Amino acid sequence: MARFGYQSPLCKQSDEYENSRSMKFLRNTWYVAAWAETLGPGEMLARTFLNEPVVLFRDATGTPHALSDRCPHRFAPLSRGRLVDGNRVKCAYHGLEFSTDGACVHNPHGTAPKAPVRAYPLVERHSILWIWMGDPARADASAIPAYPMLDPDAEAQVSARDGITMAANYELITDNLLDLSHVSFLHEGILGNEDTIAAEIDVKRDGSRLRVGRLMADVPVPGMFDLLYKQDGRRVDLWNVMTWDAPGCMVNDAGVTDPGAPREAGTGIYGHHFLTPETDRTTFYHFAAVRQNPLPAPEGRAEELRDRLTELRRIAFAEQDAPMIEAQQLRRDAAEAEGVAPVLLGIDKGPAAYKRILQELIDADG
Ligand code: FES
Ligand SMILES: [Fe+2]
Repeated sequence: MARFGYQSPLCKQSDEYENSRSMKFLRNTWYVAAWAETLGPGEMLARTFLNEPVVLFRDATGTPHALSDRCPHRFAPLSRGRLVDGNRVKCAYHGLEFSTDGACVHNPHGTAPKAPVRAYPLVERHSILWIWMGDPARADASAIPAYPMLDPDAEAQVSARDGITMAANYELITDNLLDLSHVSFLHEGILGNEDTIAAEIDVKRDGSRLRVGRLMADVPVPGMFDLLYKQDGRRVDLWNVMTWDAPGCMVNDAGVTDPGAPREAGTGIYGHHFLTPETDRTTFYHFAAVRQNPLPAPEGRAEELRDRLTELRRIAFAEQDAPMIEAQQLRRDAAEAEGVAPVLLGIDKGPAAYKRILQELIDADG
């Protein structure tokens, strides 16, 4: 089940910050709109991406579509309407009807006006709905990053496809995920501990993809990895290698093995993290973990482990990261207004590197 049960209390306040800084988003790229399972047959889902209201729906054949959630007549949200004959969206206000490509195909008051709504390219792949917010003519589905482990028919053991909305700009959350030194403090016990502070950080760029690795040798096993490994609190070698694809897609190859042993002898996860700006100050954060090299679970315990993994990750992101990042956003806005820049440390080289790539892509986006 995909869940967006956590709605930050700060999201309500975010409007007042929304216009405080003009944000330029990368537009000609694919964003995660939703977990595919979130959108059932015949359902409509209202979401905002990059400050634009969008309605997602599936037609009678199950194909998903995305239209602007703003009727061209007097701007009623189309998501307040309903689907007619499985493939037309009917505005609830005065009854205009729109086809899946956004054309106005029926006006109960006379001739249908030539007043289309914008249709956004939408592709279902790897159990995700991907939306293109830029020029539709440039939408190339082959540019969607490959996450085959999340395919619905993949053999891999996957945690719940989960998510939260965070009252912060997506770049602050990206900073958080590309600087995993914070796990020693903010997620102490679950994902890191004091002994995991000292780590070699390795940053590698490959085209517009970035890898940020942290290796921690012979440290006490953090709680989540102990659960997946031998559940005996032993010392381990711990690795995190985060791969970032613009603008906000990340996979964390993370695991533990006995000190000095090869990684293949250990176990871990591929933590998938997908960030999509809702507004300048709010972000949809989708996440799911895929087990890597899982140890055989005792009879009947595989489900329990999966649920516990889901729960621990949700605690880490919703209860530990979110409050910190949201508070940080407010302080950062105040500091920006004062013209004060952040002081950077050596641990910030991952975030610094992705910002350079993202800026290059935004400059070239047109
Ligand atoms: S606002 Fe949609 S038909 Fe009038
Ligand atoms: Fe975190």
